[in-house]
Formats: sequence, structure tokens, C-alpha cells
Amino acid sequence: MKQELEQLQQHFQERLSAIKDSDALEVLNQEFFGRKNGSLSILMKELGKLSQDVRKEMGKFANDVKTIMEDAMNKKQQELAHASWGAIATTEAIDMSEPTFPSVRQGHMHPMTIVHNELEDLFTSMGFMVLDGPELESDYYNFEGLNISKTHPARDSQDTFFIKNNPEWVMRTHTSPVQVRAMQKYGAPLRSVVSGRCFRNEATDASHEHTFYQMEGIVVDKHISVAHLIGTMKELLSGVLRREVEVRLRPGYFPFVEPGFELDMKCLVCEGQGCGACKHSGWIETLPCGLIHPRVLEAGGLDPKEWQGFAFGLGSMRLAMQKYKIEDIRHLHTGNMKFLEQF
Ligand code: FA5
Repeated sequence: MKQELEQLQQHFQERLSAIKDSDALEVLNQEFFGRKNGSLSILMKELGKLSQDVRKEMGKFANDVKTIMEDAMNKKQQELAHASWGAIATTEAIDMSEPTFPSVRQGHMHPMTIVHNELEDLFTSMGFMVLDGPELESDYYNFEGLNISKTHPARDSQDTFFIKNNPEWVMRTHTSPVQVRAMQKYGAPLRSVVSGRCFRNEATDASHEHTFYQMEGIVVDKHISVAHLIGTMKELLSGVLRREVEVRLRPGYFPFVEPGFELDMKCLVCEGQGCGACKHSGWIETLPCGLIHPRVLEAGGLDPKEWQGFAFGLGSMRLAMQKYKIEDIRHLHTGNMKFLEQF
């Protein structure tokens, strides 16, 4: 019997050392310690058949073997429990030693998002609707509806990306297509702004991108004059830049406004001294604008004898450059954290 107990113990140790999880351990437990069919339990029952003297000696030996086997079982159980806690700590990221809030890196808005949000807040406070328009635009809304016919030379300055095999669709070159769309949809009176991406086939430099942002503004009402336009432009610039800025108004030609203006602001990056951002002129071309051309009002379904309006097309990336003194427009698209973390 002694030999049988020793063999059983050895077999048990071999099986135990191969065990990798608690389910297998439970199977082993039943196999050896199960009350009815466990191999150790069956052997222990055999003790009763022995003579009293031998039983006393064998009983002690069998109990020692049983204790050793039970201790080994408990030890294994603890090892498996520790291993599974470790696994939870790594797979479910519960690490009590991990420092908490001070090391959490908080995200923040991109400078262009900040500028557009501020502009939209400013304009909604003046009663403007915030609209949206498609980036893939029809030739009609991008050009024709804005009084830019197929052969008009103004198309040259807005060369863009056309859609293969379908020249009637273009990546919009400006946000102005929303002028006609808004008039057609909402009629007059109307006050709305729309900001978004525009695309042009441009060689990039410190102040030009092939993909850039604009914000279009449009007001249609009765008795609208250039005075309303200039007042709104000044409100826009001081609201976003939070300081008085020196501006100059020049005549500007856009087929969809009459009269048309270029509203330039003194460069805040170099305070008018000349730098890459202002093409070394000291002035930034930021805000082309004008009174809406009668043909555009007609395209929008409005009678130009009854309604007038003004529109502007703010280059919002250039405004962001002025607000944050960014000397090169290309930084705004890099995704470079060293740049973005400053906002
Ligand atoms: C226009 O796009 C007209 N739609 C603006 C307008 C609207 C005029 C309503 C009158 C009435 P322009 O091509 O000048 O105009 O562009 C407007 C502004 O967008 C520029 O002043 C400039 O600030 C910005 N801009 C133009 N091209 C680029 C470019 N490649 N990269 C960055 N900003 C640009």
C-alpha cells in the first residue's frame, strides 16, 4: 500500500505541474480527492481492510501523503489566482500604481476650429443663420450662378480640381456658391454665414494653400448699402482679433458683386513691417466683399429692384494666422504636435 501511495503522489505531482488554469485544477481535484471516485479517497478506504497495527502505521503515512498533496493543490491555486490578476491588470488596464489625472494629456480645439467657432458665435449674436454647403459643387453654383460664364477670364484665377469625365462638377473654389443656394432655399430677407474648405490648383507658399478655409457672409434686405457692409466687417475683425485693427478698402473686381472691394488689414504678424505672411507688403488681403450683383439676386430667385444685399468671403486661414501670429499657412495642415500644442 505504501508503494501505491508513493506512486499516486508522484503521478499527482506530475499532473499538477502541467496544470495551467483553474478549470484543469478542479478536474484534477475531483480525480484524486473526489469523495466517491477520487484515486486517493479509494486508497484511503482500503485502509479499513488492513489489520489494526498495520492500519495505524499506514494511516499515518496516508494522511501525510494526503496533506502534502493538499498543500501542493492550495499552492497551485494561489499561483493561478495571482497570474489571472496580473492578466486582468494588463489586458483591462487596471494598474493601481498608474499615476492619474496630472499625466492625462487633454486634447483641445484646432486653431481653425477655434476661429470658426468664434466667428459663428459672433454672427449668430447678430442674427445670422449658420449654413453649410457641398465641397463637391456644380459648375453652375460655383461659377455660372455667380455671373461667371464658361469663357469668363475670372475663371483663370480660380483654377480648381475637376471631376474626371464630368466637368460639370468641381471641388468648390470658394464658399460663394452658397449665396445662390441660400437665396433659393430661404428667400429674403436673409442673413447667413457658411464656413468650410475650398480648393484651388495653386502652388503653395507661406500664404497660399491648395486646400484652405473661407467664411462666406450674405445679407439680403431692403435699403442695404456699403455702410452696412463696412460696419459688419469692422465688427467681424475686432470681434475675432479682440483689438482695433487698421484696415484699408480698395476697389476689387468679382463678377458677383457691384461695387466690389478688397478689405485689407495691417499685418499683425510683423505689425506692418513686411514678412512672409503678408508677402512683405505689410498688408493682408483678408476680406473681399461687395454689394450683391443684380444677376446673382435673380439667380437666387429675388427681384433686384426690391432687394439689395452685401456679401463677403473671408479667408479664415489668413485671419487665424493674424490672430495667432503664424508666419506660414502650411503649419495649419501639418498635424505637428509641437505647433498644435501651443493653442
Ligand atoms: C473669393 O474667393 C470670393 N469668393 C470672395 C468674395 C465673396 C468676394 C463675396 C466678394 C463677395 P478670393 O479669391 O480673393 O475671393 O479669396 C478670398 C480670400 O480667401 C482671400 O482674400 C484669401 O484670404 C483667401 N484665399 C484665397 N486663395 C487662397 C489660398 N490659395 N490659400 C489661402 N487662402 C486663400
